[in-house]
Amino acid sequence: MTGSVSIPPQLKAQVEEHLEPLILSDEKLRDISQRFLKEMDKGLGKSTHHRASVKMLPTFVRATPDGTEKGDFLALDLGGTNFRVLRVQVMEHAVKKMDSQICPIPQEIMVGRGTQLFDHIAACMSEFLDSQNLKGETLPLGFTFSFPCEQKEIDKSILIRWTKGFNCSGVEGKDVVKLLKEAIHRRRDFNIGSVAMVNDTVGTMMSCGYPNSHCEIAIIIGTGTNACYMEDMKNVQRVQGEDGQMCINTEWGGFGDDGSLDDFLTEFDREIDRTSINRGVHTFEKMISGMYLGDIVRLVLKKLTEDKLLFKGKVSDALCTAGKFETKFISDIEKPDTKIGIENTRKILTDLKLDFDTVDLHVVHLVCQTISKRSAHLCAAALATIANRIRENRGLERLKSTVGVDGTVYRKHPTFSEELQKKVKTLAPECELTFLISEDGSGKGAALVTAVAERLARQSRLLDSDSENDEEN
Ligand code: BGC
Repeated sequence: MTGSVSIPPQLKAQVEEHLEPLILSDEKLRDISQRFLKEMDKGLGKSTHHRASVKMLPTFVRATPDGTEKGDFLALDLGGTNFRVLRVQVMEHAVKKMDSQICPIPQEIMVGRGTQLFDHIAACMSEFLDSQNLKGETLPLGFTFSFPCEQKEIDKSILIRWTKGFNCSGVEGKDVVKLLKEAIHRRRDFNIGSVAMVNDTVGTMMSCGYPNSHCEIAIIIGTGTNACYMEDMKNVQRVQGEDGQMCINTEWGGFGDDGSLDDFLTEFDREIDRTSINRGVHTFEKMISGMYLGDIVRLVLKKLTEDKLLFKGKVSDALCTAGKFETKFISDIEKPDTKIGIENTRKILTDLKLDFDTVDLHVVHLVCQTISKRSAHLCAAALATIANRIRENRGLERLKSTVGVDGTVYRKHPTFSEELQKKVKTLAPECELTFLISEDGSGKGAALVTAVAERLARQSRLLDSDSENDEEN
């Protein structure tokens, strides 16, 4: 559906005037990219990271799997709308998801007490272990926890803040691994082995394409958004050591929290923030991710209606109620097949009890397109910055690299991935990126990180005992 063709010229001009602040030219995107680079430096700096909005969190993941790892692992995945427990088998040069169980997290638990949340997680784990006849075993655990955490060690991770729909009391500032272990202990019906904590971006990077290709960047564009990449240790000033690399969880969702994107924020973005459960934080995420896109579209439609450019000027309940216009509607409306797109739009607007005509269908399409494009372009600006940074770190004229991707917005929206990739090419022409969609990245990746951590611990124990033997001899 070409949104603009069927809109009369005068109406089109008026609608476009409203949409103009939501369209980001290449020049604006280059400006955003430069600001993002500054924030990345701030986040990595020893004396500046405390006040950085892009946190650039060290993950202590220094090595990717070398193919010798093996064993059975439990994996947990918490961060989107559901919680998952998985059993993952790591074999030499392969990783396989064996079984898994999805446990929905009721809304009241998402914003309830922290102990309640961890008891719920432990109860789901117990149920899963029962179903697998694994209660007696003590499996190592990879825990994908997709929130910004200050990682102290691979099994010690302090939650900085909740994001997306979560806001449980008594967890921010605490070690999440400890809270999980305490909940398991309270039950007394099963045990776990060593634990590795992983952000979903890191799990995606570690598992994407394994063992054939090797990712060094991963992005998530789903309920929330974020990216991680391999940074040179010499630039990670907060961690001792100059050699090698470390995976950095950028937490790019926080970009703009210090006001650095204020001139790009629209009245709609400010309204989304004002009515969110975490006001003033994760500014960039609120312009991009699936948790917010539907509501941004709703607010634009509401404004156009108030200005008598849509729905005969009738501002109905659906336009005034948060969450009514779901993000998945955007994908349905933007279906590349015109007929299907129009039909979907008609059905959605009918279900929402909106009083529309044929021109309205095209205006709604144009709004959806504008919002999803802005999201893809903002991601592209940040991703181009990361790719260019890696290229410059290595003193390369051209960088060839692979980006692991996950998240419903990227997977389900019909043109998002294309828009994103096209714009990255424009903004970082010296970087040739291959995009790989991750399959079960969070689960498999967490198991791989745990397996690598176990291998490294084994190797360092061997080294220690070697050096003790040397001293004795
Ligand atoms: C979190 C990140 C996470 C991203 C994608 C954001 O809200 O802060 O840690 O990686 O969502 O799930």
